[in-house]
Amino acid sequence: MLPKDLVLLPHEIKHYEQLDKLAPECTLFLKRDNHAFPIDKPCKVALFGSGARHTYKGGTGSGDVNSHFFNNIEEELELHGFEITTKKWLDAFDKLKEEYSKVFVKRVKREAKEKKMGAPAYSIGQNPNGFEHSLSIEGYEGDIALYILSRVSGEGADRRIEKGDVYLTDKEVEDILYLNKTYEKFMLVLNVGGPVDLTPVLEVNNIFLLSQLGVVTSSVLVNVLLGKANPSGKLATTWAKPNEYPFFEEFGDRDNTRYKEGIYVGYRYFDSNNIKPLFPFGYGLSYSEFIHQVIEYNVDSDLVSLKVNVKNISTHPGKEVIQIYLSKRVEIDNPNNILVAFNKTKELAPNESEVLDISFKLRDFPNYVNDKHAYMLLKGDYLIRCGNCISDLEDIVNLQLDEDVLIKEVKSLDIDTGFIDYSPENKQSLDSSVKTIKLDLKDISGYKVNYVKNYEVTVPEIIRNLTLDELILLNLGDYKTGLAGVIGQAGSLAPGAAGETSLRIKSINSSLCMADGPAGLRLINEYKVNKNGTYHLTEDSILRGVKLYLPSFFANFLDVKKNHKKNGNIIYQQCTAIPIATALAQSFNTSMLYDIGRLVRDEMKLYDIDIWLAPGMNLHRNILCGRNFEYYSEDPYLTGALASSIVSGVEDNSDKMCTIKHFACNNQETNRFNNNSIVSERALREIYLSSFEYVVKNARPSSIMSSYNLLNGKHTSESHKLLVDILRNEWGYKGFVMTDWIVTGQVNDKSSVHPAAHAHIDLINGVNICMPGSKKDIKDIKKALKKGEITRKELENNAAILYQYIIGNKNR
Ligand code: BGC
Repeated sequence: MLPKDLVLLPHEIKHYEQLDKLAPECTLFLKRDNHAFPIDKPCKVALFGSGARHTYKGGTGSGDVNSHFFNNIEEELELHGFEITTKKWLDAFDKLKEEYSKVFVKRVKREAKEKKMGAPAYSIGQNPNGFEHSLSIEGYEGDIALYILSRVSGEGADRRIEKGDVYLTDKEVEDILYLNKTYEKFMLVLNVGGPVDLTPVLEVNNIFLLSQLGVVTSSVLVNVLLGKANPSGKLATTWAKPNEYPFFEEFGDRDNTRYKEGIYVGYRYFDSNNIKPLFPFGYGLSYSEFIHQVIEYNVDSDLVSLKVNVKNISTHPGKEVIQIYLSKRVEIDNPNNILVAFNKTKELAPNESEVLDISFKLRDFPNYVNDKHAYMLLKGDYLIRCGNCISDLEDIVNLQLDEDVLIKEVKSLDIDTGFIDYSPENKQSLDSSVKTIKLDLKDISGYKVNYVKNYEVTVPEIIRNLTLDELILLNLGDYKTGLAGVIGQAGSLAPGAAGETSLRIKSINSSLCMADGPAGLRLINEYKVNKNGTYHLTEDSILRGVKLYLPSFFANFLDVKKNHKKNGNIIYQQCTAIPIATALAQSFNTSMLYDIGRLVRDEMKLYDIDIWLAPGMNLHRNILCGRNFEYYSEDPYLTGALASSIVSGVEDNSDKMCTIKHFACNNQETNRFNNNSIVSERALREIYLSSFEYVVKNARPSSIMSSYNLLNGKHTSESHKLLVDILRNEWGYKGFVMTDWIVTGQVNDKSSVHPAAHAHIDLINGVNICMPGSKKDIKDIKKALKKGEITRKELENNAAILYQYIIGNKNR
């Protein structure tokens, strides 16, 4: 519910109400019995769990949004007239949590020391989660009981394979099982950004994946409890026992991350090995039940179109997702099934039906054949399957291809990973009895990519006339010194924004202001301006976290309370926290993502933000990655389709822009600035790059951000192969490329095996602007100019690419 005691701006109300309607689509039941929920009216509730008061609306770090208001679950239930019977427990738990937080801060400081890192930098992304205690939950009355299990993570650190994070604590297990036995109506609510191991509590009858839904998190839970909203999400990532994920125990190497599972990420691994995970990809229960049937299909060249009739056979209105998978039987190994299309019904009333149109082109799902350096549709069988979850599919038709078809021949990336990618021992055989159709793909004319050395544009006079110093400045962001860059607050046009293009060039009187994402716009809520400058009146969440690890003198120095006493006009930047990307993905709803893109664009307009540093598009390679919540899914097609929609929502018919990130293979946070992802060419091209490729081709985002990590031995920001050969030559990208923040070494861990990136090397290899820039970068570029390692022409070309966007000529 909207708070009554705050003055809200019209867009805050509009966007809250919009999200409140949409966000149930991001949630799902993992388990549900048929009688306990929904309940018909507010009642007495026995409320437990750390998320009851400390409800998470999203993860931490730059992916967090400084919300104007947020009701925790306890508050929201009370606003709706529920009576909480467990206040005593919640108060006592709060005290324990406070004590635990102190212990946690000590632990992080100790770990930072052991790793020879500064505690503030090390602390980013370290979050206190579940802990053991002995508080009794017995003896509380309640018509229903809820246990809110919460976990949070954030950039800078990975999740931990320990009790309290991926595993439930002993006390959590004990309490949840007790509640399930004791109360007739009990729901375990998961207020988490990624999977936890539910093995010990699988007997619980009602498990609801609420996820983290931004400002409407608690409200959606209450609406679902009362049956005013019906979850209709499906898992975008497999939930399995941790040690069942492929090469799980190898995750977290400080220096080198070997992607040994190759293309067998997530369901591609489980499904191909007939391993039943706890909850499979694409799975999700709601209050409704549906049946579906493919009533027609058509194959025209490689375009496969299906009509699927879906009927609601329950008494509860709801929505259903239909998923189409492709099962390839060709000479090289392939996952048993890959997702190639999906669609979602409108809300269907009981007994109502809808015919969904679903289509895809085979050429969009080719194999990358190493020895031919080519994307190809190989001769063999292509079985089409349809269902509402990967583990429940029906064979529809088999397409037979008699000859190999070339889609695209490319330049090899010459990768030697030092290992052979995993492939399953048991190859799937084609034992389907469905009809086979011979494919005729003569109209596909494959081609060989033409590579030019650099992506060049015409350099306008204004750029040619810049002094060398000005030109260098335009190749960098408008840097601030010190902490601001490190915590993603280097912008000054909109306080709290992550950065902007240079404001120091007289002849260019315009600049691009960039704010994070992806869970909405991350800005400072309130600030004051007077003739002496700008003063933050509220604290950014990263700063608040870091302060705990600073000596008190510095922490006091950063305190914003004193700014309230200064005179000046107060300016508000109230932005809406939207659901985390993983939750958005669970909606399987592209048009909803488009609408949410529109919502963000409207707030960008209000606060003069030009570029949203979102969406984050890395795959959920391993559930331990601390930033998975900022990313959509383990599946590249789902990621690509949803990210395209949100980018189009922001960018279509508007001067607002998106930055897709982190390009590429930023799948681990441990030693994130200097970790080397070692990935085979096939895995890279078939899964890790294909989601980016999809968005580049379909939504034409204005910009793309290179990642922190190295890829096969080179920082992505320094990789000509990635940023020019692939992005420009193979995909035809016309936007601009920025680095991730401070990749050129301000916080480089000196003991890392791999060095930091260098600004001048970035700028000659496809980066057009180094963010947020620094004095060190200027020195580096000047030195390289002297040595002839970078030329004025190269700097001019970068500046010209960027300049088009600065003057509002979006080249999409
Ligand atoms: C993150 C980016 C973010 C940038 C600016 C970096 O630490 O990796 O995702 O956009 O900061 O805040």
